[in-house]
Amino acid sequence: MILPIVAYGDPVLRKKGEDITADYPDLQQLIDDMFETMYNASGVGLAAPQIGRSIRLFVIDTTSFVEENEEDEEGLKDFKEVFINARILEEEGKEWAFNEGCLSIPDIREDVSRQEEIRIEYYDRDFNRKEAVFSGLKARVIQHEYDHIEGILFTDHLSPLRKRMIKGRLSNISKGKLNVAYKMRFPKI
Ligand code: NI
Repeated sequence: MILPIVAYGDPVLRKKGEDITADYPDLQQLIDDMFETMYNASGVGLAAPQIGRSIRLFVIDTTSFVEENEEDEEGLKDFKEVFINARILEEEGKEWAFNEGCLSIPDIREDVSRQEEIRIEYYDRDFNRKEAVFSGLKARVIQHEYDHIEGILFTDHLSPLRKRMIKGRLSNISKGKLNVAYKMRFPKI
């Protein structure tokens, strides 16, 4: 089932997500719904707060980063993973800029600087504990989604000048003044 995606301005996007347990109600269905919602909106990642749940869960599938016939040096084509109760243990390496967007903030894309490598502990959808190191674009998408479960948005990382420049557009998004191809839920005003 496709779920409405919560738009910028909704307080749920600012809450720190809570850990969940394996008996969280309808967890497998929720994960499937999140993937379906993400694919429908052509996203590569979606975090639970973006569908209105303040829990530490996000899903990622970077397949669409790679065009057909394009080299897939980073192994993005088969990177599909569920992250439950994730904790970033370490961030390392040089900061690099990448043009990020967010399904909760349609039509705004900005360069964001983040470190190149992370070590993360999490549980997969079957609640197997995992600890892994990710770098490059995989790390990038994880860092973005991880921010969501910490109540942080990519626009928080922008310079004061960039923030001022997009202020009006952000305010329009929270008022629902935009055309978007997928179902969204706008904060009550
Ligand atoms: Ni996002």
